[in-house]
Amino acid sequence: MKRISLLLLGVIMAVAASAQVQVRIHEEAENQPVIPAEIYGQFAEHLGRCIYDGIWVGPDSDIPNINGYRKDLVEALQELKVPVMRWPGGCFADEYHWMDGIGPKENRPMMINSNWGGTVEDNSFGTHEFFNLCELLDCEPYLSGNVGSGTVEELAKWVEYITAEEGTMADLRKKNGRQEPWSLKYLGVGNESWGCGGNMRPEFYADMYRRYATYCRNFDGNILYKIASGASDYDYNWTKVLMDRARGHMQGLSLHYYTVTGWTGPKGPALGFDTDSYYDIVAKAVEIDEVLTNHEAIMDAYDPQRRVHLLLDEWGTWFDVEPGTNPGHLYQQNTMRDAMVAAMSLNIFHRHTDRLKMANIAQIVNVLQAMILTQGKEIVLTPTYHVFRMYNVHQDATYVPVDLNAGQIISPSGRIMPDMSVTASKDAEGKLHVSIVNPVVDKAQTLVLSFDDLNPKNVSGEILAADTVQSYNDFGKEPAVAPKAFTGFKKTGKTLTVTVPAASIVALTF
Ligand code: AHR
Repeated sequence: MKRISLLLLGVIMAVAASAQVQVRIHEEAENQPVIPAEIYGQFAEHLGRCIYDGIWVGPDSDIPNINGYRKDLVEALQELKVPVMRWPGGCFADEYHWMDGIGPKENRPMMINSNWGGTVEDNSFGTHEFFNLCELLDCEPYLSGNVGSGTVEELAKWVEYITAEEGTMADLRKKNGRQEPWSLKYLGVGNESWGCGGNMRPEFYADMYRRYATYCRNFDGNILYKIASGASDYDYNWTKVLMDRARGHMQGLSLHYYTVTGWTGPKGPALGFDTDSYYDIVAKAVEIDEVLTNHEAIMDAYDPQRRVHLLLDEWGTWFDVEPGTNPGHLYQQNTMRDAMVAAMSLNIFHRHTDRLKMANIAQIVNVLQAMILTQGKEIVLTPTYHVFRMYNVHQDATYVPVDLNAGQIISPSGRIMPDMSVTASKDAEGKLHVSIVNPVVDKAQTLVLSFDDLNPKNVSGEILAADTVQSYNDFGKEPAVAPKAFTGFKKTGKTLTVTVPAASIVALTF
C-alpha cells in the first residue's frame, strides 16, 4: 500500500500541482491494445432489490415492463451498451440451485436468501429470465456457478441445459419454452471461495476448481471461457497458489476490490460526508492501480505469455446502507464522489488491459455503487451511470497513450492519488476520445493538450459536474448531476487548452 508518514495525516497537499498541466496525446502510437468492452461489465446479484424490483417486476406488474423486465431500466441500460452481465452472484451463487428457477412459475419453490437479509424469493427470475434479458440488452452472459453448496453434476448439467442442442437437458429446456440453445462464454466456477463461497484454503479450492472445470463441457460449438474464483484486495497468496496449481485449466482468474474504509465497523455514509472522507475514498479507489500491478506481477511469473486473463469481476464503493433500509440489502445512494471513483478507476483499467480483460462494477441496480436506483414506478440514473454512458465510447476502441505531468494529493489517511487523470482511445471510425478527471474539489485546472499529428478542429465536449461532490440524484427531484455540453476549450495553434472545473469529468471527441 502506498501510504505516507502519519505526520502528514490530516493534510491534503497538492505536491506538484501546477497551474497548467501539459498533456501529450500519442494518437499515432502503433501496436496499442484494444480496450475490451468487457471492462465496462455489470453485475446483477439476487441481493436486496437488484433482481426483484430493480430488474424484474413480472409481466403482470403495473410498472411498465417488457415481458417482466422494467421498461425504463432496459432502455437506460441499452444506452449504456452493457457488454457483459454477471449473475446470479456473488455470495448468492454458491447457494443457488438452478433447477429451482426453471419451469412454470407456480411450480418453482420459494427460497430463503440467507446471505442477504434472509429475504424470501419465489425463484420467478431464473435461467430463462436471465438469458433472455442478456439477449434483450445484447450483452454477453457471465454465469457464476455454485461450487460451495452445489455438486459437479449440478453445474455440468446447467451448462448442458443452456448450451446443448440435444439430450435430456436440452429436451427439458425445450419443454420450458426455449428451442435454441443460448450461447454461454463466461463461466465462473464458484465465488469468493475463500469466504462466503465455502471458506476454502487456496490449495483445496485449486483442486476443486480443476475438478469442476473438467466436467463443464463444450456442447455443439459453444466454447466456455472458464474463470476461477480469485483473491480479494491484497491477498496475493491466493493468486499465487491458483496460478501455480490450476492455471492450465482456466482462461480467467478473478479479483475483487471494493472501495471501502474497512470490513468491520461503520463504512461511512454514502451521503453527507465531508471533504476529508471524499479524498480518502477517491484515494482508496485509485489504490486499485497498485493492487492490479501486484496481482499481474504474480501472474506474469507463472504465465509470461499472458494467456490467463485477470477479471476484476466485483469492484466499486461500499458504504453504510441508507438509514431505514435492510442492512442486508446493501442499498446506498450515489453522489458525484462515486462518479469520481468510477472515472478514475476506468482510467486506470485502460492502462492494464494487457492482462485485465473484464471488470464488473457492483452492482447494476439498487445495490452498492449502482447505475440505477428504483422506487416503485420511479427511476433515478446515478452519477455513476452518467460516467459509464460518457465512457462507453472507449469500448473496443484502441488505447492511445497519454503523457501527463499531474501533481499528487495526499489524503487525510495518508494515501496518495493524482490530482488529474486523463485517458484516451481511438474508435473504429477514427474518432479520438479523451476523458479527463479533475478530482480536486476547489480548484479548476488548465490542461494544455498537444498531439502527434492531429489538428484539433472538430472538437465536441461533455461535462459531468455538480454544485458539490456531495450532490446526488433523488426521486421526485430534478437531477442534480447530469451531463451537459462542454465548451471550455480553446484552440491555440496545434494545441488545445482546456479549463477543467473543480471536481468534474470532461469527455472530448475529436
Ligand atoms: O457485491 C456484494 C457481495 O460482495 C458479493 O455477493 C460478494 O461476492 C462480495 O463479498
